[in-house]
Amino acid sequence: MLITFEGIEGSGKTTQTELLSTYLADKGYRVVKTREPGGTHFGEALREVLLRRGMEVDSLSELLVVMAMRAQHVDEVILPALQDGKVVLCDRFVDATYAYQGYGRKIDLGVIETLNRLVTKGIRPNLTILMNVTAERGLKRKGAASSMDRIEEEGISFHQRVKKGYEKLAKEDPKRFFVVDGSLKVEAIHEIVRAKVGNVLKSYGV
Ligand code: TMP
Repeated sequence: MLITFEGIEGSGKTTQTELLSTYLADKGYRVVKTREPGGTHFGEALREVLLRRGMEVDSLSELLVVMAMRAQHVDEVILPALQDGKVVLCDRFVDATYAYQGYGRKIDLGVIETLNRLVTKGIRPNLTILMNVTAERGLKRKGAASSMDRIEEEGISFHQRVKKGYEKLAKEDPKRFFVVDGSLKVEAIHEIVRAKVGNVLKSYGV
């Protein structure tokens, strides 16, 4: 069972991933909590470079690095955990690339799809929880511009394109996506997420 969390910067997805992970582990599920970009030694090392402020990275290089990290992540972490019957919670996955490199950087979505298919080896999330907040609200939550990373510090119009991209993805695949109002209180969101995940686990007999 693969459950992914998605959303723009400051949408609260990392907090919700952690809360859900603790909740499921307490219920006795074997849970693997991981994230992208990152999730492996190789990926976490590249993450630091990818997000470093002031680093010149063109869009295509960014896409290919993100995909290289994903290939390693799927191979080393996600696939083995799924094969072992674990519940994998991933803070960002394939949809982030459509949203950021596709809608944000305007790279052809077909190219992203081809690469995603290659690196994921056919794995698809069973459920994707999209935390929906406005770009203004998300960036405000991130705090001072001076502490932002290379992608966070992109202009508001970039983050608005990413947000719209996520909304489009959710509309195109309503069975997989579950959209949550990220402006609600943390505990209220966690309750909504818990209920949804409980139903999905039940429907898969997990
Ligand atoms: P985070 O905000 O979840 O820590 O993610 C770090 C950044 O990585 C965030 O700005 C979005 C970006 N990202 C992409 O641009 N493409 C991707 O495919 C992924 C997984 C993340």
